[in-house]
Amino acid sequence: MAESMYGLKRSHRCTEVSETNIGQGPVTVMGWVQKRRNLGSLIFIDLRDRSGLLQIVFDVNDIGEEGFAKAETLRSEFVIAVTGDVVIRGGAVNPNLKTGTIEVRATALRILSEAQTPPFPIEEGINTKEELRLQYRYLDLRRPDLQKSLMMRSKVVTFVRNFMANEGFLEIETPILNKSTPEGARDYLVPSRVHPGSFYALPQSPQLFKQLLMCSGYDRYIQIAKCFRDEDLRADRQPEFTQIDMELSFVDVDDVIDVNERLLAALFEEVLGVKVELPIQRMTWQEAMDRFGSDKPDLRFGMELKDVSDLVKGCGFGVFTGALENGGSVRAIKADGQGTMPRKKIDALVEFAKGYGAKGLAYMSVNEDGTYKASFAKFMTEEELKALADAMDAQPGDLIFFAADKNKVVYDVLGALRLELARQMDLLKKDDYRFLWVTEFPLLEYSEEEDRYVAMHHPFTMPMDEDLELLDTNPGAVRAKAYDIVLNGTELGGGSVRIHQSDVQEKMFGLLGFTLEQAYDRFGFLLNAFKYGVPPHAGLAFGLDRLVMLMAGEESIRDVIAFPKVKDASCLMTQAPGEVDKKQLDELMIATIKVEE
Ligand code: AMO
Ligand code: AMP
Repeated sequence: MAESMYGLKRSHRCTEVSETNIGQGPVTVMGWVQKRRNLGSLIFIDLRDRSGLLQIVFDVNDIGEEGFAKAETLRSEFVIAVTGDVVIRGGAVNPNLKTGTIEVRATALRILSEAQTPPFPIEEGINTKEELRLQYRYLDLRRPDLQKSLMMRSKVVTFVRNFMANEGFLEIETPILNKSTPEGARDYLVPSRVHPGSFYALPQSPQLFKQLLMCSGYDRYIQIAKCFRDEDLRADRQPEFTQIDMELSFVDVDDVIDVNERLLAALFEEVLGVKVELPIQRMTWQEAMDRFGSDKPDLRFGMELKDVSDLVKGCGFGVFTGALENGGSVRAIKADGQGTMPRKKIDALVEFAKGYGAKGLAYMSVNEDGTYKASFAKFMTEEELKALADAMDAQPGDLIFFAADKNKVVYDVLGALRLELARQMDLLKKDDYRFLWVTEFPLLEYSEEEDRYVAMHHPFTMPMDEDLELLDTNPGAVRAKAYDIVLNGTELGGGSVRIHQSDVQEKMFGLLGFTLEQAYDRFGFLLNAFKYGVPPHAGLAFGLDRLVMLMAGEESIRDVIAFPKVKDASCLMTQAPGEVDKKQLDELMIATIKVEE
């Protein structure tokens, strides 16, 4: 039978009890039974709360017959309150525990709640299937790994709020029920009861509202903002996620970068004790693509791409020359010491590359005697092979991969292959934090699917001053005042300077294929606001989940979100999304159609 808290007060969390409590009178601790061991006339309990473990000893001489009998009924996950005296451990010291030198000799025990046997052990590093853990997330969340991550997340948010408040940022909330924002993903829609047939869109980000706040003179805004995007999920994507979202007035790129890199440095120092060297390295988008095949390069290792197009221009290998004739390029990466990679593993990498759009992958290695082995050897002379090996600075024992295609495909393939090789070669150290600003993104990206330009960041992003003239002549070449902050190959955040001149904005809408009417229809409130005096402004948003994931050394943002969704955007615990009563649908004037599979 569960007992009440009547007259009881917790004096300490489990690991707040220490040797300083010895001889200072009894302590009262409360928590979950981690495990029970009976040693004849003694019963030992590991008591757990979010702070950690504390050993409790029940001795019939301290607690009496009745208390001892009660202790014998304790099982894992019972919730109990124990009062007792702190003493030096009778048994061996446990160096793995903060409380490893002490124990509490119980003089009183209350069972506050009994518990069934949980479907998986409540321990660190279990290998229970994630589906089961998510179904019983409330139990999963008791495990120390998740508790550590969520406590770190709380610390990060608190630190960011305080830091930004000191920098003059105001925390302002923006609405969740909105008109659609132009972030590019699919919206989550909410039907309106009062306006049948009309829908709100959940915010993909507070983008337009934060720009309006700048128009309204708030100067510096921050929000820990929930965002919703109906897109395909991956390890670093959730349908609802959290941004550290900000906007600043009267600033340019350097001002946004400055405050944010100071924030990151202070945050990593405070939470992880890691020193981030400032200023953080910057690299243009073009350089990032050319050197790493990615706009979010992982700088923890080299293996840079090299353009070998010039060397293979006249060779007899049609795959290479064909790509060049089509306006593409031939580029390569070198995996040090991988020359003896078995054929099977290479074939698997070729398949991997095909997943990124490659038609194939060519490779060569340098033998120990300095001769070459290449998948395209019969199409090239020894001199041509040597020229390639020299260009790649290849030593005996090295392996080189070549991709030939349109630039975009070559970047994608080699960028992904570079990461995969680094994984296989164990080059990615978790506690090595390599930050990078990627700047000067292209303003526009051509969408084959829609047969028009789309904004690479969003339609309100300012072109670089130097490139303004190109808007009329060569829009695809215009660079934007847009920047991403990248950490170890993950895009942590991104932002831009916004357009605040109506002529530039109108030109931008034109390039994106909107008529002025269409633009006003969607964003009229913003465009109108800009007519009444708008400060130059810029901003950025971090993905909080991704930031905490990397700080906590986790592989998935699900591990730093209390109640995450799975791949098909459902919640395994609550079973959301679910059907609703017909009455609810009727009120909304919504009829659903059952589609046969
Ligand atoms: P952006 O769309 O680049 O910019 O988003 C900013 C950051 O949010 C995180 N993020 C996500 N995290 C988890 N799950 C997702 N589905 C997801 N989508 C994005 C990423 C990303 O870098 N309004 C602009 C910011 C600005 O211009 O100020 C915006 O939302 O870490
Ligand atoms: P194929 O002509 O398609 O039989 O390819 C000949 C060889 O070139 C095979 O080893 C392919 O893996 C390789 N290969 C094919 N396409 C490419 C490409 N786009 N880039 C690099 N190598 C390729």
